[in-house]
Amino acid sequence: MKLIVLRFLVVALSCASAVLVIANLRTPKVAANERDFSPLFSTLGMPQPAQTPAAEQTVAQEGREKNIKLLGDLPASQLIPVMNYFAVSMGRRCNFCHVNNQGQWDYASDAKPEKNTAREMIRMVLDTNKNFFKGNLEVQCYTCHRGRNNPQSVVTLPLPVPSPPPGGGQGRPAGAPAGPGGAGTPGAQPQGSPTPRPTPTPAEELIGKYVTAIGGQTNIDKVKSRTLTGSTTAGGNSVSFEIMQAPPNKFYIRATTGQGVIERGFDGQIGWEKSTNGVRQLNSVEIARLQGSINLWGNLKLKEQYTRLRTQGRDKVGDRDAYVVLAARSDTDVERLYFDVETGLLLRRVTYLRTMVGVIPEQFDFEDYRDVDGVKLPFIVRISSVDAGNPVSVRAYSEMKLNAPVDEAKFKKPA
Ligand code: HEC
Ligand code: HEC
Repeated sequence: MKLIVLRFLVVALSCASAVLVIANLRTPKVAANERDFSPLFSTLGMPQPAQTPAAEQTVAQEGREKNIKLLGDLPASQLIPVMNYFAVSMGRRCNFCHVNNQGQWDYASDAKPEKNTAREMIRMVLDTNKNFFKGNLEVQCYTCHRGRNNPQSVVTLPLPVPSPPPGGGQGRPAGAPAGPGGAGTPGAQPQGSPTPRPTPTPAEELIGKYVTAIGGQTNIDKVKSRTLTGSTTAGGNSVSFEIMQAPPNKFYIRATTGQGVIERGFDGQIGWEKSTNGVRQLNSVEIARLQGSINLWGNLKLKEQYTRLRTQGRDKVGDRDAYVVLAARSDTDVERLYFDVETGLLLRRVTYLRTMVGVIPEQFDFEDYRDVDGVKLPFIVRISSVDAGNPVSVRAYSEMKLNAPVDEAKFKKPA
């Protein structure tokens, strides 16, 4: 039971994002629209770097898990996200590979053959990428499985009937006879020269528009603190919370659950958690996740935290048209940002956690922007993740204030 509550809290209050340090907002040079923008994984349409930038213990170093043969090098905080990713890739849950005896999990047990198959698959993925893709993470569990334990290999017939291409015979060399379903269609126009693609709006311009849309740089610069209350709902559970934030990255979160109160804080140096189990120190990854989950400075100072920005195209977020911007902090830490074409507001942020067996996305949708003391901020944040038990959690703020006095002592670790 306790495990469930804790897991829920992790979902509720953190984001398993690749974001490592929003902490110290650097002021890098932004190379918008850079032609040779080299970043990420081919999955995102990009090439690929080497290491995980986590200053953190690995699963093996931590030594808490009893039966780890292949995933020992994972940063400890990635183990559960990777397990969720396995389950989602298979379209199953934890019990597909792990033993559950009347409600008691025995994750270390190798009794289920699927767990051993999974080990062979991990080995296959690591070897394939090493031997055939220069160590790049090209082949991942989801590449084949796509939500099925037995991947489909044979083409399904019938194929969808192709619709006649607009303008007729697209791709047909000029003057060549129309193929079936091609330009022979009555009324089809001969193919003219392709319409030139409009140059995408530069990412820097979109961020400028966003800054204006949320209230302008002057108002943003005035933000010295935020206090808020609200609740997070996931899988029918609800946790209410209050949060205080002060620059550059201090926070205090008090969450009230059915099982009691959990407090977490960070004073710029030391992160801590106080629960019914006592007080413990948070590691750098936990701190970064909490900061990411209550992202304020990150969303107010978008440009400052990325080293490279590029407009990738357009997409829909719900029924809104959005520009998609690829934003990188480093070669391993890339996100996608979606800006409303009309209002300029940030509608969506997708982070990608790169692990040794797969890239794990997490999506934050921002809704219900309201004016708070001169700055427009979202009152609803919808978080979608690969956690099949809690695929979507919704955070709703009931009250939010900027620049109200904050008690700095709250950020400090209790004795
Ligand atoms: C597709 C199979 C598969 C699924 C689904 C899966 N796991 Fe695992 N899990 C493994 C494998 C394989 C290992 C061992 C990895 C190794 O040997 O390095 C493992 C190891 C673990 C461990 C470490 C146990 C120990 O003490 O050694 C935990 C904890 C764990 N899984 C939790 C989960 C949870 C929670 C879920 C559901 C969200 C889950 N797993 C879903 C395959 C799976
Ligand atoms: C190159 C394609 C490919 C990749 C990549 C891949 N798998 Fe598989 N996997 C398969 C195929 C095909 C089968 C079915 C094999 C069979 O039926 O004998 C399978 C079967 C399995 C099974 C057994 C399913 C069952 O019903 O018994 C597990 C568990 C599994 N894969 C886990 C994984 C995990 C975890 C990863 C990522 C580390 C992964 N696979 C990556 C192709 C792949």
